[in-house]
Amino acid sequence: MSHAAPRPHSVSASGPLRGTATVPGDKSISHRALMFAGLAVGESRIEGLLEGEDVFATAAAMRAMGAEIERGDDGAWRVWGVGVGGLLQPAQALDMGNSGTSTRLLMGLVASHAITATFTGDASLSGRPMGRAIEPLSQMGADVTASPGGTLPLMVRGLCPAVPIEYRLPVASAQVKSAVLLAGLNTPGITRVIEPVPTRDHSERMLRGFGAELIVEDGPEGKVISIRGEAELSPQHIVVPGDPSSAGFWMVAASIVPGSDVTIANVCMNPTRIGLVTALRMMGADIGEVEPREVGGEPVADLRVRHAPLRAIEVPPELAPSMIDEYPILFVAAALAEGRTVARGAHELRVKESDRIATMRAALEAVGVPTEEFEDGLAISGSGGALLPGGARIASKLDHRIAMSMVVAGLAATQPITIDDVGPVATSYPDFFETLDALLR
Ligand code: S3P
Repeated sequence: MSHAAPRPHSVSASGPLRGTATVPGDKSISHRALMFAGLAVGESRIEGLLEGEDVFATAAAMRAMGAEIERGDDGAWRVWGVGVGGLLQPAQALDMGNSGTSTRLLMGLVASHAITATFTGDASLSGRPMGRAIEPLSQMGADVTASPGGTLPLMVRGLCPAVPIEYRLPVASAQVKSAVLLAGLNTPGITRVIEPVPTRDHSERMLRGFGAELIVEDGPEGKVISIRGEAELSPQHIVVPGDPSSAGFWMVAASIVPGSDVTIANVCMNPTRIGLVTALRMMGADIGEVEPREVGGEPVADLRVRHAPLRAIEVPPELAPSMIDEYPILFVAAALAEGRTVARGAHELRVKESDRIATMRAALEAVGVPTEEFEDGLAISGSGGALLPGGARIASKLDHRIAMSMVVAGLAATQPITIDDVGPVATSYPDFFETLDALLR
């Protein structure tokens, strides 16, 4: 997971994108599949797992705590779990690489086991706030020692039995919600999370699928999620649907490059994940859903996206949780739209793999797109479909989604856009460039 020398990449306007793209397995679901299978008693099988560095960080950590995880020749993964309560003391620090999801969810697992684990990460992850997970896990009895500012490296000393809590999420974060629920798995009694603003619900869906007693109710303050601890999870056969966040790059690329017609196969259409589709349709994008179906407890469809002129919108702030990872690519769509797009209410972008408001503002300005930065978002004055000037080198700040978004911007730029380092793309989308080449052929 140590990053090699920076790998720059240049891209400028090219022909239309045509054909079918298959996106990798959903990252959020892949992490959870490995963790829950690693806690079930017996053999689980996972198909379509995202084979990216972030997910490998989770696999390595679960192995270090006793789970057996193997990739079969057929591409499916097999996991033999240790049982809830059965995680072993890892011999070494757990290297989380670039992955915030691995870190926060695994902190939750460790918090209610009688083990101690140290979490380390790369420069990007080491700057991200962990206090939001430390706070509830400490209430449950875990003893966490973090670096200044509540960052990595940090050490979690779990408590078993831990103390069940009722926790109202102060930030809309599926990672924090999941950390508390996962700690609750090995905690006697009922652990409860109150979620005022709904966030992705893959943990809830999949925990139920593994046999945990978990209920979701509507309360006066939002959703109330209750999990009964000391659960026994039974092994599952999981099919991971395609990642809507990865699909977002092709949705926007096809929308902004004239003549494009792309089908993106097998995309997870969970309502807590598809804010980008909603926003792009508001902008005039032509996105059709083909064969809606259910795969592994998640709604799935193929998406057919054809080039269409885009117009600026005010992005509804209430869409933020359902498209939080898609703002960088939405900003690229806005850069090609007619008029000024304003996206606010997205303060969380400041604490992602990079400060995505500042990083995208700098990147877009460098390639000739006028922007205005707000504390909680960005305004972007679009070209009305004209090619962007380009001709700049942009800093992607170890952030895979910035790198891929600016590659897509390059597809609509007169002069090449050079991304300083596309190495981090491997964290979530190892085949990104192969797929791009195939669509341009
Ligand atoms: C994720 C939740 C989101 C998202 C991240 C994946 C998850 O983070 O940005 O890429 O799998 O739970 P937050 O919980 O910080 O919003």
